[in-house]
Amino acid sequence: MKPSHYNYHPTFPLVFAILLAFSAASTAVAQPHDQFLQSSIRILRFDTETTPKPLVIVTPLLASHIQATILCSKRHGLQIRIRSGGHDSEGLSYVSQVPFVLVDLVNLRSIDVDVESRVAWVQSGATVGELYYRIYEKTRTLAFPAGSCPTIGIGGHLSGGGYGVFHRKYGLAADNVIDAHVIDANGRILDRKSMGEDLFWAIRGGGGGSFGIVLDWKIKLVPVPPTVTGFSVTKTLEQNATQLIHQWQYVAHRLPKDLFFLVTISRANETVQATFSGLYLGLVDELIPLMETRFQELGLTKQDCIETSWILVMYMSQFPNNTLESLLNRTAANKTWFKIKSDYVKEPIPESVFAEIWPRYFNEDEGRYGSIVLVPYGGEMDEIPETQTPFPHRAGNMYKIIYTIGREEEENLDFQRYLSWIRRFYEDMTPYVSKSPREAYVNYRDLDLGMNNGSGITSYAEASIWGLKYFKNNFRRLVQVKTLVDPQNFFKHEQSIPSLSSW
Ligand code: FDA
Repeated sequence: MKPSHYNYHPTFPLVFAILLAFSAASTAVAQPHDQFLQSSIRILRFDTETTPKPLVIVTPLLASHIQATILCSKRHGLQIRIRSGGHDSEGLSYVSQVPFVLVDLVNLRSIDVDVESRVAWVQSGATVGELYYRIYEKTRTLAFPAGSCPTIGIGGHLSGGGYGVFHRKYGLAADNVIDAHVIDANGRILDRKSMGEDLFWAIRGGGGGSFGIVLDWKIKLVPVPPTVTGFSVTKTLEQNATQLIHQWQYVAHRLPKDLFFLVTISRANETVQATFSGLYLGLVDELIPLMETRFQELGLTKQDCIETSWILVMYMSQFPNNTLESLLNRTAANKTWFKIKSDYVKEPIPESVFAEIWPRYFNEDEGRYGSIVLVPYGGEMDEIPETQTPFPHRAGNMYKIIYTIGREEEENLDFQRYLSWIRRFYEDMTPYVSKSPREAYVNYRDLDLGMNNGSGITSYAEASIWGLKYFKNNFRRLVQVKTLVDPQNFFKHEQSIPSLSSW
């Protein structure tokens, strides 16, 4: 990305001031932008008539538009919310209880892939689907280790870590960032050198919306074989799913880094099923003997596998006709009322939990809409020191649990029932997961863990309640960086890193 893209544009403050005045006079001003609001909202909990709306939505075309928006918002005493892909699970990128300006980066999504140097510059408004597509159109032997949902935005995803099918081999998306441009609370555009290593550390996993607006990221691309193997095996309770899940815990995090396989558990008709699926960075003739040695009980056969490119393994089931252009579609295919929670597991969970507690929840009426995913760690994740980035869940974690519940929109849906289901389930898992703190993944924002208080002045002790869960001892350094770079706490939301000088 050429620095000249980021020149300041002096007329923009005027445009913004006019928009603000206009929006104060007429609520209709947001109408032309509703398409952006709608297209990015993934979670219908925040798409209601009573959800607070922004005074204005700014969709910058240039960095100078963001600079002007920051300066004008400060002058008018308005909060800013930043949206890249809009997947924040608590709507923090587009909902605020105080008057606010929404900066939607949908128009800043250029991607520049340099195959020879194995790097790319990607703007925050791009989605991971767009990034994967642009890499793949140039080469079959490079990839980027990030998440699997194609509509996730680069801005929020890299800000919080970003795991996926390659993290056991190459670490998280944030581990593979080598430079970035950030606009700080004073409207300055900083690169890695000018921002310094502390801020560069903080933006790679410290959670979005706390330190500034990241314009773009320079990322390291990683080598992949042109042909890899994908596989999937589904077992019901009657087919020994319980024992297999229990056994999986001992196996998955110890496998070679080239093999990633997770378990998805959900209700199927009158039973519970577990789907074991994954990606192997090699051919099926190597995978089968490896699985026979390490996890024979699963009974993986060639018929359960397919050899193809990494991108097709990830998306074949979503785009059955190999229409990879669908990766360029930013609009989420399905939108649901949705709640997510996460846990980390350091000791194997007893089989009785999978045999008794989990089926009980899935057999409840609400359980039809719930699912649990077990994501293996180990491999490279064990080798990256806990303090290298703010993301602290490294060695010692066998796997992550993701709890979700989601329903398609229906009139008069009593979503409290579904929230209660996931909260009870999470509560019942307390004895079996990480403790002191009970760790959680910041990219699965969960306001049940605690919140900054509404006045915007939150003490270190108050914020530690959720901060230590997301960042463990890295939270302290995040607060120090925040205090240095944004002492007045301009960039804030319900779980933003607090500045010590603001209280
Ligand atoms: P969004 O735009 O909502 O931003 C999220 C947060 O980052 C907000 O606080 C926002 O203000 C801030 N932010 C956004 N852009 C910023 C910028 N440019 N500069 C500074 N702050 C910024 N995760 C994962 O690791 N692997 C996975 O496979 C998946 N899969 C997945 C599927 C689905 C359906 C959902 C809803 C979520 C995931 N996630 C995930 C979680 C995902 O990584 C997380 O929600 C990201 O924050 C989403 O980034 P967006 O840019 O889309 O969100």
